[in-house]
Amino acid sequence: MLSPCRAVRARATSPASYGPHARNPTPTAMTASADQALRTRAARVIPNGMYGHESTRLLPAAFPQFFQRAEGAHLWDADGRRLLDLMCSYGPNLLGHRHPQVEAAFQRQLAQGDAMTGPAPVMVDLAEALVAQVAHAGWAMFCKNGTDATTMAVTVARAHTGRRQVLVAHGAYHGAAPWCTPGPAGVVAEARAHLGRFTYNDAASLDAAADAAGDDLAAVLVAPYRHDAFADNTPCDPAFARHARALCSARGALLIVDDVRAGFRLARDCSWAPLGAQPDLSAWGKAIGNGHPISALLGSDACRAAAGQIYATDSFWFAAAPMAAALATLQLLRETDYLERIVALGTRLRDGLAEAAQRHGWALKQTGPVQMPQWLFDDDPDFRIGFGFAEEMLARGVYVHPWHNMFLNAAMTEADIDAAVAAADGALAVLQARRGMLRPHPVVVQRLGLRVVD
Ligand SMILES: Cc1ncc(COP(=O)(O)O)c(C=O)c1O
Repeated sequence: MLSPCRAVRARATSPASYGPHARNPTPTAMTASADQALRTRAARVIPNGMYGHESTRLLPAAFPQFFQRAEGAHLWDADGRRLLDLMCSYGPNLLGHRHPQVEAAFQRQLAQGDAMTGPAPVMVDLAEALVAQVAHAGWAMFCKNGTDATTMAVTVARAHTGRRQVLVAHGAYHGAAPWCTPGPAGVVAEARAHLGRFTYNDAASLDAAADAAGDDLAAVLVAPYRHDAFADNTPCDPAFARHARALCSARGALLIVDDVRAGFRLARDCSWAPLGAQPDLSAWGKAIGNGHPISALLGSDACRAAAGQIYATDSFWFAAAPMAAALATLQLLRETDYLERIVALGTRLRDGLAEAAQRHGWALKQTGPVQMPQWLFDDDPDFRIGFGFAEEMLARGVYVHPWHNMFLNAAMTEADIDAAVAAADGALAVLQARRGMLRPHPVVVQRLGLRVVD
């Protein structure tokens, strides 16, 4: 996820050059606000006031940390400001925040019982629905987070093969457990001792990593496409997907697709199914409950026995209400044009933004699938332009991300997209005027190992 030390030019690097008291004026500089008051209280009782990927530490200073509510395509921050949400909770929100059918199913089950002494019948309904939906799947196991599902996938692969080595792509994110977290603090080398690395979309590098693993190769774990943060996103080459499939079959290893982020946003099946490569295992999370906490590991019949051998459990994994939400979500995936809709909306957004960028003289790179867009600027090694753009979009009521891919949801309308494009038009115009005053974000500089040379 993080690039090696790179030299970049900058005018200032001290923390004072960025943040609420930055010398460059931010359009929505934080005044005394409900958000600020919550941050002050949080700083006393929560490490760093907030942690993890939803912390604003790596976002422009003006970004709100706390939100009151969400509905359809919009979020309301702690100060009541309404924002078009192009992050969709970092993925979980696929059909729109608080989709009425999903919420009704959730509430119905909640009224009956949620975390009980054993699962509710809905667990079987949901497993049947997922097995029917995802072509490679013969069985399903449920958990809460994407990390649970990827961790369980790796464990099943090792149990099935009796081997240790798992190959993952350089820069890929598969969760926050010690074996896969990008943050080294508190992680012992032994936790990652049996991971090999390859370059995404590079068959020769996958072969070399597999050769190095030799007869200890348990699995190849891949994202559906290269959706690394801080980088342009790249589609998966179908030849690479088929090569990975063939390599795993030839060497007796399992192929795992990590569909936690992109699952059901690219296809109504596993994301690699349209590429002609069916995995043995697929990890799901985020969108499958349309915002409710549930994730899943799906597997082929060939590795069912190993899945039955591993010790996998958690106090809340069998909670019934999120399962009911997921069942209702799956029904909507089957019965609505949600996928065609987010593709059409994403295309409208991509085209409108490209025109606006051209009009204002910006080389904006729009990569990734249109329904999961990644926006980075050319010649912006320390992301200062992207941060300035995100600030300006926020000031115009649109929540966008300066270095992570975004997400569209099916509750968005053409009018929402047109509003986002109009906001971008204004933001890109103002950004030209601010260009010389933009500063790099000190935490980004530090995290990416950028050496600011000015
Ligand atoms: C591809 C991928 N895998 C795994 C995970 C981990 O999921 P979670 O944060 O729900 O544990 C994520 C989360 O962003 C992800 O994007």
